[in-house]
Amino acid sequence: MKAINEYTITDAATEQMAGTPNPRLREIMDSLVRHLHSFAREVGLTPEEWLEGVRFLTAVGQKCTAYRQEFILLSDTLGLSALVNALHDKRARGAATKSSLLGPFYRQDAPMMKLGDSIISTSEGTEVVFYGTVIDSAGRGIPNALVQVWEPDETGNYDLQKHDPSVMDLRGRFHADAEGRYYFRGVCPTGYMIPMDGPVGDMIRAQRRHGYRPAHIHFVIGAPGYRELVTALYVAGDPHIDSDTVFGVDESLIVRLNRTDQESPLPDLPSIHYDFQLAGASDAMSGRVGADPSQLTGRVGA
Ligand code: BEZ
Ligand code: FE
Repeated sequence: MKAINEYTITDAATEQMAGTPNPRLREIMDSLVRHLHSFAREVGLTPEEWLEGVRFLTAVGQKCTAYRQEFILLSDTLGLSALVNALHDKRARGAATKSSLLGPFYRQDAPMMKLGDSIISTSEGTEVVFYGTVIDSAGRGIPNALVQVWEPDETGNYDLQKHDPSVMDLRGRFHADAEGRYYFRGVCPTGYMIPMDGPVGDMIRAQRRHGYRPAHIHFVIGAPGYRELVTALYVAGDPHIDSDTVFGVDESLIVRLNRTDQESPLPDLPSIHYDFQLAGASDAMSGRVGADPSQLTGRVGA
């Protein structure tokens, strides 16, 4: 029998898992265990610290509900979601718009609307028209692409943070026209602090981070035969554009509000123009780092 010490424990643990029939599960668990052990050795983890970590993860789980996903928030604030997005983008076949965080406020049952409709139902805020074209890697419009959109109100809160879940505000789904063009009305995006009333907020405060996201609006865009795009547009000039708490901003996703846009389908309103590019579908895997939280509960062992 081999003595178990701080080094041999790693091989002992990975050898026990070596018979895992699913090769991808085997690869992931082997690497996870090796990195976890290296981490514990590197910091000289004490029993008290290990227990504090267990308490923290327990609190993260206890904060989750059908409308709140604290584990996704943890992944976001550790930069893991942005890293998974970057790895996903690298696997794209052809040019495409960069991914950005789905975040915890996506809902898959947003109302279906007509082009030009307003997603504003209860909130007030400066009305803006968002418009552009959904194109493929060669720049051709993608007819009928499905554009899902959601944004916070002028106080920086999503509908789920202010209302009963039956109220939908500032979210909608649209089909692009035969040339791939979309347009709809919403509010000018506002920056906000991520939910700070849970264990992730405690972590952010302990690290002396500000907790803000710069002003943005979210999009999930898809069409048959294309890779679904999960992204967001960020408004230039926001004070937190270079220090997003969840690392979602890319230069290519920064947009400007145009107050004199004669190309806009609604030229009397300020506009934000952006063309989204979708890559061809190279895999069946979703690009969503996250989900509607109500879809994540009660599925253990499913
Ligand atoms: C969001 O943009 O909705 C979001 C993303 C990550 C954490 C919190 C909020
Ligand atoms: Fe957001």
